[in-house]
Amino acid sequence: MLLLLLLTSAFPLVPWAGAGRIIGGSEVKPHSWPYMAHLSIQNKSNHFTCGGFLIRSDAVLSAAHCVAGKKNVTVTVTLGAHNVEKREPSQQKLRVRHWVIHPKYSKDTSENDIMLLKLEPKAKQTNEVSYISMSSQNERVKPGTKCNVAGWGRTSITGSGSSVLMEVDLEVQSDEVCEDLFKDYLNESMICLGDKKLRKAAFQGDSGGPLVCNGKAHGIVSYGPQNSIFPEVFTRVSYFVPWIREELRKFALQDLPDPPSSD
Ligand SMILES: *[C@@H]1O[C@H](CO)[C@@H](O)[C@H](O)[C@H]1NC(C)=O
Ligand SMILES: *[C@@H]1O[C@H](CO)[C@@H](O)[C@H](O)[C@H]1NC(C)=O
Repeated sequence: MLLLLLLTSAFPLVPWAGAGRIIGGSEVKPHSWPYMAHLSIQNKSNHFTCGGFLIRSDAVLSAAHCVAGKKNVTVTVTLGAHNVEKREPSQQKLRVRHWVIHPKYSKDTSENDIMLLKLEPKAKQTNEVSYISMSSQNERVKPGTKCNVAGWGRTSITGSGSSVLMEVDLEVQSDEVCEDLFKDYLNESMICLGDKKLRKAAFQGDSGGPLVCNGKAHGIVSYGPQNSIFPEVFTRVSYFVPWIREELRKFALQDLPDPPSSD
């Protein structure tokens, strides 16, 4: 699999390669995804990017595989961006000092592919920056539901990343579709999506970005198959609501993890 950032039971997509792309999508109307976050993750020798999304003025959700296992990295979140290669007046760029990777995240199975980043200072809410509600605990989107995903990832399998934010719609598939293909697919904590006609997908570089169904964040771009673009697996946000709430409570108490060491 490709971590779509990419991971599959067999082959996590390596985010350093610039994983994640939206295939078959179109450029978003600028700032129509005001909760969208661009993550830049780098150390002295490597740089890669992921997506994420603002769920509170001081918290961004993303995928664990974007940061897990990387050494000496600094993480910078940019909010309010449309073209990430430009300095737009709407942009808020924040260096992240604290993040929490789910303690049961597994690189091998992509289980619990979720990470919460604390913003300090908080994001300023503007016309271009605001947060999105998460799905409620245990709420499940039915197969056939149309959802949207956005990212600055690659726009073709061989192409490069996109400077402007792209979006694509994908349909929720039954769990069986992913269970048949991915031996580590878990119906409780993952959502199966895709476009059966193989025209549309999230791709490398899109990892960590939000899957929005009926106006709420239901998923996080996680992984896909190595040699195809269908189907794809998203972290199921509703399953993690209790974990997210607990971590947000710790944020409020300043009960924070030690700052990750930077070189
Ligand atoms: C940067 O991260 C990569 C991946 O974890 C690691 O192999 C490399 O040693 C790191 N470089 C530095 C300078 O820490
Ligand atoms: C998930 O899969 C298990 C085992 O295959 C099954 O018993 C359970 O009902 C499924 N849960 C949902 C919510 O579909």
